[in-house]
Amino acid sequence: MNTIVIKNARLLGEERLVNILLQGDRIASVAPADTTLPPTGATSIDAEGRLVLPPFIDSHFHLDSVLTRVPNRTGTLKEGIDNWYSYKQTTLTVEDVYDRAKRYCDHAFTMGIQGIRSHVDVCDPQLRGAQALVRLREDLRDKIDIQLVAFPQDGYLRDPQVPTLLQKALDMGVDVVGGIPHYEATMELGSRSIAELMEIASERGLLVDMHCDESDDPHSRHVEVLAWHTRRLGMEGRVNASHVTSMAVMDPYYVSRKLIPLMAGAGLSVIANPLINVHLGGHFNHPRHRAMAPIRDLVAAGIPVACAQDCNEDPWYPLGNADMIEVAKMGAHLGHMMGIDQLRTMVGTVTSAPAQIMHLEGYGIAEGCRANLIVLEATDHIQAMVRPAPPAVIIRDGVVRT
Ligand code: FE2
Repeated sequence: MNTIVIKNARLLGEERLVNILLQGDRIASVAPADTTLPPTGATSIDAEGRLVLPPFIDSHFHLDSVLTRVPNRTGTLKEGIDNWYSYKQTTLTVEDVYDRAKRYCDHAFTMGIQGIRSHVDVCDPQLRGAQALVRLREDLRDKIDIQLVAFPQDGYLRDPQVPTLLQKALDMGVDVVGGIPHYEATMELGSRSIAELMEIASERGLLVDMHCDESDDPHSRHVEVLAWHTRRLGMEGRVNASHVTSMAVMDPYYVSRKLIPLMAGAGLSVIANPLINVHLGGHFNHPRHRAMAPIRDLVAAGIPVACAQDCNEDPWYPLGNADMIEVAKMGAHLGHMMGIDQLRTMVGTVTSAPAQIMHLEGYGIAEGCRANLIVLEATDHIQAMVRPAPPAVIIRDGVVRT
């Protein structure tokens, strides 16, 4: 059995250095560095006091559109959706999706990412994205845990074909039920889409992750409906609201006294996408506002909050580099999360929180966890953010990969 010891590792928020013993594809022990000796015959890696984390997890992404590099001239969400629709009509093939997504994932792995939850557009009669990404998920198991979400990009109830297509994608092995209630034609249809999609997830025993209230509309109320159906169906801890940017412009009394307690009571989690949200949101309201979910208030209420990338060189966002520290930093700036402990929480938004939201088995640095680790070129979480760099060492399933 392959045995590795990582000596003198600093864990997030801990002063004392530890030795981490890996046996096979699991962590065998984590013990203070000054009290343990590496076993003879083990491969030894000296972290020299550098920060060792479980791998980065990107819990909200779109692998089917990544690296398409379709220009967006207005820089708006609407033009992104329109341009993606045109791309699907003219250019998209199964191999095109597979090749772009694989190229991206190979790079993401070198940046320390080992988990990606990717939405896949199911408003395509041929389900080309789902075909490609179900195959890629299997082909990349030695690098990245990919979880796929059946995402009705053009609306679940706008086109009568889509409910059947979404079920078909789930039959093909797509893992999670998605939705986009704010993009349905009316508020009432948005609510109906949530009810129907939640029933599907409940019947199939699947997790849920909806694009929810991704707008600057202070009257958007879909997350409230999502919380209600979560409790009604007993799905606490299994449902995530992505984006919820409208919370930034809602009435503060409603948000603090009703909505956040409802979300916490339903065990909802939230995924904010700081880079994309602030870029696509806030175009039309005056005064301009920070178009991002109020992550500080959500964290304070005990709601699991992750930060994610969403897009990378695609119709919605021309930039991106699979850099989860950049995502956490942007979240810290926009969310007033710059206190020393809050910055530690922000590292958690791209590691432990998304792992919890995705129900990843064996994630973390403790005895019995999977032997998936990264050693950063930094002595603590502050330095990791001050001077971001790709990991010095990447370990996957107990094997050193760099
Ligand atoms: Fe998204």
